Amino acid sequence: MNNRIEKLARKSLSFISPYVPGKPVEQLFREKGLSKIIKLASNENPLGASPYAVKAIKNKAQTVNRYPEGDAFALKGKLSHLLGIDGRQIVIGSGSSEIISMTVQAFCEPGDEIVFAWPSFIIYKILAHAFGAKPVEVGLNADFTYNLDSYLEKISKKTKLVILCNPNNPTGSHVKKHELRRFIRNIPENVIALFDEAYFEYAEDPDFGSAFQWLGKGNVIIARTFSKIYGLAGLRIGYGIASKDIIRILEKIRPPFNTTILAQEAAIAALDDRNFVRKSIQHNKKEKKYLSENLKKLGFTVFQSQANFLFCQTEKNAAEICQKLEENGIIVRPMTGFGLKENFIRITVGKSSENRLLIKQLEKIC
Ligand SMILES: Cc1ncc(COP(=O)(O)O)c(C=O)c1O
Repeated sequence: MNNRIEKLARKSLSFISPYVPGKPVEQLFREKGLSKIIKLASNENPLGASPYAVKAIKNKAQTVNRYPEGDAFALKGKLSHLLGIDGRQIVIGSGSSEIISMTVQAFCEPGDEIVFAWPSFIIYKILAHAFGAKPVEVGLNADFTYNLDSYLEKISKKTKLVILCNPNNPTGSHVKKHELRRFIRNIPENVIALFDEAYFEYAEDPDFGSAFQWLGKGNVIIARTFSKIYGLAGLRIGYGIASKDIIRILEKIRPPFNTTILAQEAAIAALDDRNFVRKSIQHNKKEKKYLSENLKKLGFTVFQSQANFLFCQTEKNAAEICQKLEENGIIVRPMTGFGLKENFIRITVGKSSENRLLIKQLEKIC
């Protein structure tokens, strides 16, 4: 990097390394020249996209010479109907990561503290540094479940934002209804509470605690996405729900035309595709069980997950395991990027055939 240019950049950026996503399939094709690649590294939907969404994209393809409707009026209308809330309580983003980003930009001044768990979604830390806020990390329990008391203890006079990822990426751990009730009730009213519910549709525990019923508190924001259960990760569309006052603030900084015509139309159609959602949930439940049982047989410790991925620990060197899997065309996610020791791996639940191939390869490697 040219040092002269680096000096011009905001000082807080020196704490940031660029976000490293799961290795793209195209990159492994280039590197290894393999004919078939299985990607189990980015928690995408293995069943593809909702067929209703694909049809909507095709139908609208001819209209992309026009700008989209900036505030995604129709999609907001659909969500407001389905969720039973006012359309003015919804903001649409280019993925839920944009909702999280807008929240930090809108509410955090340099020096404000943002409290979040670690390990959790890496973006929180990047955003805190990017906007000059101070990241305050809360450790998880030894079994990677949340310790909400230590979360609350970390809230200080300087805290502006608390972020809870539920279910958590990368651990799959979750917060139950009664735990969430106590947590939310103890967050001061002058602190914004952001709940990242990117994976909530996959939660199997009937006692899973969504923050939805706490919207009335006024300081709660929920970020949700069409990237996971609806299979639209490549379109970049998600939404935030909150009080009208919060949404009014977020709308001030939402970039104009931040989502595309095709993404908006696909999302509207996907919301009607209940069959696809049902199938995706059933598939995830069945295949997660298969993977978990077989990974345990291979000596992995598999942590309880309410999402579409499994967080695993091995006695062996995870980086080597990941490397060997890549040589055989299978991409999983080593957890060193999350600052964890070398023996953790996150595996996305794939298609049935992909999961069986993974286990077959691991039987050879482990
Ligand atoms: C916890 C969590 N939140 C948000 C996102 C971002 O999703 P989106 O594609 O909606 O930006 C992800 C993506 O993997 C995630 O794991």
